[in-house]
Amino acid sequence: MDALESLVGFAASPVLETRLRRAAALAGACDTSRPDAEDPHWAALLDAVTVQETRLFRHPAQCAAVAALLPAGLAAARAEGRPFRMLSAGCATGEEAFTLAALAQDATHEAPGTRIAVLGLDLCRPALASAEAGTIAPGMGEPLALVPPARRGWFEDASGRTRLHPSLRRMLSFQRQNLLSWADKGLDLIFCRNVLIYLTEPARISVTAALRAALRPGGILALGPSDRAPAGMVASGESVWTARDA
Ligand SMILES: C[S@@+](CC[C@H](N)C(=O)[O-])C[C@H]1O[C@@H](n2cnc3c(N)ncnc32)[C@H](O)[C@@H]1O
Repeated sequence: MDALESLVGFAASPVLETRLRRAAALAGACDTSRPDAEDPHWAALLDAVTVQETRLFRHPAQCAAVAALLPAGLAAARAEGRPFRMLSAGCATGEEAFTLAALAQDATHEAPGTRIAVLGLDLCRPALASAEAGTIAPGMGEPLALVPPARRGWFEDASGRTRLHPSLRRMLSFQRQNLLSWADKGLDLIFCRNVLIYLTEPARISVTAALRAALRPGGILALGPSDRAPAGMVASGESVWTARDA
């Protein structure tokens, strides 16, 4: 538990303890004196203990709040001749990144020709493989249940599975990253929802500071319902904030 906390910031919880007990054989193979997310034993343990629950258009009111902010952000990116860059931090099987692509593509009606890039980051390798495939993970109920009817055209049936439309799939890329040691710059929009709840308070502070630092001025941050925004952000909707300055 202590090694997992120092490596990826996980807080002790009944869910984590149950998952660790189930993955006892994997945990036993890890060198706890050297926690390393790249080490194959640690990577297998992280695959086993992380929680991948996710949905397309999860937290619909928040998605609507972000959709209202997108046209101005896209227009600014187009005027500056750069892509509009979005991040799903803790993307699990990709549904949040698919949602971002659909929201932004719909908003380009008001800023035609804007280039859009969506990056999804996660620790869990099978989840990232599913995200790369652009299909919706089975087992979470009706995939389109929360998707507004006007946006359902971005998802199609592919041999019985729901798949993201290929024109949106091209905007997406996925990487295995540990948010506790991640940094970037110049992002326009970050979703980090239902991730910080698994972390200790110091890890939450560290991750939200890194997210804040990765945003460009005016960039948008959407967190989970119980998460607190870092300093220097202006409330702009339900669990949505805008970066005041650089
Ligand atoms: C419950 S899912 C949330 C998925 C999506 N954000 C949503 O709200 O639907 C949490 C994801 O965060 C990932 N995660 C947790 N801690 C992480 C860390 N330190 N670095 C990268 N990913 C992490 C887990 O692997 C898991 O896939």
